[in-house]
Amino acid sequence: MGATRKRVLTGDRPTGRLHLGHYVGSLQNRLSLQDEYECFFIIADLHTLTTRPEKAHISEVGENIRDLMLDYLAVGIDPDRSVIFLQSGIPETYELNLIFEMLVTVPRLERVPSLREMSKTASLESMPLGLLGYPVLQAADILLPRATLVPVGKDNEAHVEVTREIARRFNRLYGEVFPVPDALIGEVPSLVGTDGKSQMSKSRNNTIDLADDPDTVRTKVLGMFTDPVRVHADIPGRVEGNPVFIYHDAFNPNLEQVVELKERYREGKVGDVEVKRHLVEALNVFLGPIRERRENFMRTPSLVEDILITGTERMRDEARETMSLVREAMGMYRLPE
Ligand code: TRP
Repeated sequence: MGATRKRVLTGDRPTGRLHLGHYVGSLQNRLSLQDEYECFFIIADLHTLTTRPEKAHISEVGENIRDLMLDYLAVGIDPDRSVIFLQSGIPETYELNLIFEMLVTVPRLERVPSLREMSKTASLESMPLGLLGYPVLQAADILLPRATLVPVGKDNEAHVEVTREIARRFNRLYGEVFPVPDALIGEVPSLVGTDGKSQMSKSRNNTIDLADDPDTVRTKVLGMFTDPVRVHADIPGRVEGNPVFIYHDAFNPNLEQVVELKERYREGKVGDVEVKRHLVEALNVFLGPIRERRENFMRTPSLVEDILITGTERMRDEARETMSLVREAMGMYRLPE
C-alpha cells in the first residue's frame, strides 16, 4: 500500500455480463496489474445514460451493477487490494467533467470513431451533447484518481487519447496537476464472436459469458461457426481466422494439443466436432475457478454491495483531494466559508 504506488483506473459500463472478449481484451491485464499498481475499477453507470437515458433502461442498471461486480470479483479482482467504485457515487466526477469540457473542442470529439458507432447502435437520430462528451466524462474518471495507466479494449484507445490531450492542456494552462496516462491494450485486442463474423459483443448475440454454466458453454461452442467451405471432416480445413482455433489459442493452455489439432485439421484428419469438444473442455477448465469464486461471493448476501460502498468511499477521498488541487491550480474564486 502507500501513496507511492502508481495508479490504474479502468472499468466498464454496467450494461450486461462480461464475456471472453472482455477477458482477453482487458480483464487479464487488469488482474496482473493488481500487485504493482493501486487499481481503481469504475462501474460507469453515468456513461450508460449517454445512449440510454430512458427510465426503463435506468431501472435495469441496478441489477447490471451487481452482475458486473460479480464478474469482477469472480475473475479475481481482489477487493482487499483494489478499489471498485460506482461512478455516480462520486459527485466530483460531474465537476471535473464540466471543467474538462472547456478544454476540448467539438470537432475533436466528432473525430472519435466509437461515438458514431454508439449513436448508430442505439439508433439515435442525431448525436446528443452528452454522448459527444462521452470521452470527456471518461477523462474525468481516469484523471480523478490521477491514474497513469488505463487497461482497456481496443475500442477505448481513442478515448484515452482524448484524456491525454485534456491532461496536457490542463497542465499547460494551470500547472502540473495530472499525469498523462497510457492506454494498455490486451493480448487479443478484438476477439471474434461465436458467429465468426464480427467482434464478440452482447448486441450481436455472439458471446460466451464468464457467467455461463458448462451446458451453455457446450451449446454455444458446438454451434460455433468454423471453416465455411469445409463440408466434410476429410477435407483439409483452414485454421487461420477460424474462430474455434482462435479460441483454442486464447484459452487452451495445452499447447501440444492445440498444435496437434491444427495439424490434423489442415490435413482433413479431424472433424469439427472433436475440435469443438476439446474447446468445450478447455473453456470449462478456464471458467471453473471463476465460477467457484462467483459462488463464494454470492453466498454472503450483502458482501458485494458492501465492497462497492467501501470502494466508493475510498475513491471519494481521492476525488476530493484532486478537486482541491484543481481549484487551487486554476485559481478559481471561492466564496469565503
Ligand atoms: N468506456 C468504457 C466502456 O466502453 C467504460 C469506462 C468509463 C471507462 N469510464 C472509464 C474505461 C474510464 C476506462 C477508464 O465501457
